[in-house]
Amino acid sequence: MRDNLEIMLQSACSALTSAETEAQLREVRVQFLGKKGELTAIMKGMRDLSAEERPLVGDLANRVKDTVESLFEERLALLVQADIARRLELERIDVTLPGRATNSGSFHPISIVTDEIVKIFSGMGFGVAEGPEVEKDFYNFEALNVGKDHPARDMQDTFYISDDVVLRTHTSPVQIRTMMEQPPPVRVLAPGTVYRRDSDLTHSPMFHQIEGFLVDERVTFGDLKGVLTRFLREFFGDDLGVRFRPSFFPFTEPSAEVDIQCVICSGQGCRVCKQTGWLEILGCGMIDPEVFKAVNYDSEKYSGFAFGMGLERMAMLKYGVNDLRLFFESDLRFLRQF
Ligand code: DAH
Repeated sequence: MRDNLEIMLQSACSALTSAETEAQLREVRVQFLGKKGELTAIMKGMRDLSAEERPLVGDLANRVKDTVESLFEERLALLVQADIARRLELERIDVTLPGRATNSGSFHPISIVTDEIVKIFSGMGFGVAEGPEVEKDFYNFEALNVGKDHPARDMQDTFYISDDVVLRTHTSPVQIRTMMEQPPPVRVLAPGTVYRRDSDLTHSPMFHQIEGFLVDERVTFGDLKGVLTRFLREFFGDDLGVRFRPSFFPFTEPSAEVDIQCVICSGQGCRVCKQTGWLEILGCGMIDPEVFKAVNYDSEKYSGFAFGMGLERMAMLKYGVNDLRLFFESDLRFLRQF
């Protein structure tokens, strides 16, 4: 029995030392120390021993058991330690690595400028209206008092779809559509895309305008001046110089063009304002009675003003952009700056 115990101890030791995983290790332990294991099997021989030998062999068996047990614990600790080290290595995170940059989108400068203008005018009670970009000649020209022989209808400027359908050349047709739909008082702003057969450094065949108009009883040119001056100062800055020059538009009478003090040189004179100190920024006027006639408004009872401006120009002046084409080239290096 003693020999058997010694042999078992030997093979248990080598089995434990060569176990590579915790599971293997536990298997070895069961194999030798488990209820149906080798130690139990050997101990069955105890009943054949003499009374003197029994305690001695029992003692040896206990020591064998303790040795196997402590070797098991030792080996287990080692394997657990190695496993932790292996996983630390495997699942290592380098917290000093730079993170992945996320790209967030931004609004197009034309959208930003549109939103800002709408916001300023909504503070003065204006709502927003839209109209189609493919427009009837009637709304784009006829009802706006642009007769059949007016130069603005020249094939040079207008994209014709058919004899009486065009790509709208301005946002003014929204005036007609709105007034035909609702009676005064109206206060409306109409941003949108417009088209002209024009393409060079400062002209694009597709560009954007914002139209505004107000109709009520006893509206005067003074109201027009007050509203537009307020708007321009909110948009470009509080102490901005603003002047109104007589002009002509078929759909307004009297008509004016509005200049602002050059925002690049503050009126000192520079290349952008061609040394004049002033920049032409929008067209406006009192709505012509002929227009009221076309939309069935009573021009004896009502008066109103209208204005229109180019959004690219507003954005160029606001952000100091000197090339119109930048707005339409989808160059992210440009667009990300807004
Ligand atoms: N529709 C004009 C254009 O495209 C701009 C304009 C001028 C609009 C005077 C108006 C206005 O409403 O009163 O050039």
